[in-house]
Amino acid sequence: MSGQSKLLKWAGSKSQISDRLSPFLRFDVPYIEPFCGSAVFFFENSPETSHLNDLNSDLIGFFRQTKSAPDEVWEQYAAIPVDEQSYYSARTRYNEMEQSPEKAGHFIYLNHFCFNGLYRTNRNGKFNTPYGAKLKVKKKLDCEAFRRFSGVLQNAQLHSLDFEDFLLQLNPTGSCIYMDPPYFTNDERVFGEYGANTFKGHDLERLFSVSHALSGKNRVVISYKNCSEFSEKFCGSIVGEISVTRNVGGFAGRRKVEKELVAVLDNQ
Ligand SMILES: C[S@@+](CC[C@H](N)C(=O)[O-])C[C@H]1O[C@@H](n2cnc3c(N)ncnc32)[C@H](O)[C@@H]1O
Repeated sequence: MSGQSKLLKWAGSKSQISDRLSPFLRFDVPYIEPFCGSAVFFFENSPETSHLNDLNSDLIGFFRQTKSAPDEVWEQYAAIPVDEQSYYSARTRYNEMEQSPEKAGHFIYLNHFCFNGLYRTNRNGKFNTPYGAKLKVKKKLDCEAFRRFSGVLQNAQLHSLDFEDFLLQLNPTGSCIYMDPPYFTNDERVFGEYGANTFKGHDLERLFSVSHALSGKNRVVISYKNCSEFSEKFCGSIVGEISVTRNVGGFAGRRKVEKELVAVLDNQ
């Protein structure tokens, strides 16, 4: 996709390492992302047929509205001033809205001007990330950018389910499935970067089972933090390691270099 290729800021986005990860992926067959987040590879490569899924229904609601009504979403986004008071009023309104172009416009506004693009929610599922635009350039995307993203989204079917339910329902064949789940390890605090429903230990087991079940008829690519839980489970399928610098818990001042493993399961 030419021009501005980043619509959202998203914790764990693969934009930093997309050049090193994309050689493992295929975009000439149907492309499927069960944990799509900001869907970096989808927007960079515009595959002809795609299925994007994420448990975060407000994220998928935003993609749906942008796909069908980019001008309306942009008008809502453009209308909210970038200052602390307007941010908190928009956040309160957003938490009360049903899916609509207005909610989608608020979603992207909050994403751009919240603290480090984190989608944190309280126990009741209400978005509660504080304002974060104080020291940043307060520039917004133009309407043309929304129209371009809408154009790419025309080739995507959008879903908001748990990854396993989504894959079992879709039951794909001859596709490339890229799995980029949140990281879970037993020995570290897990930050609520994606809302209340984070990925837990038993989810890694489910990831392993569904990946194996689908690898006979698809190419399944998984990226995950280099940790013993992942490397033991996927030991025969690991094909690469990529270094990435990350903010710890979304704090830009606290950065560390992490290694990500890439596993490819392709028994077609
Ligand atoms: C590491 S992020 C994906 C980042 C994405 N690859 C990108 O480039 O922006 C993981 C995503 O998984 C989603 N998620 C968490 N648990 C899930 C589940 N059980 N099923 C589907 N999606 C889930 C989160 O909402 C989050 O957007």
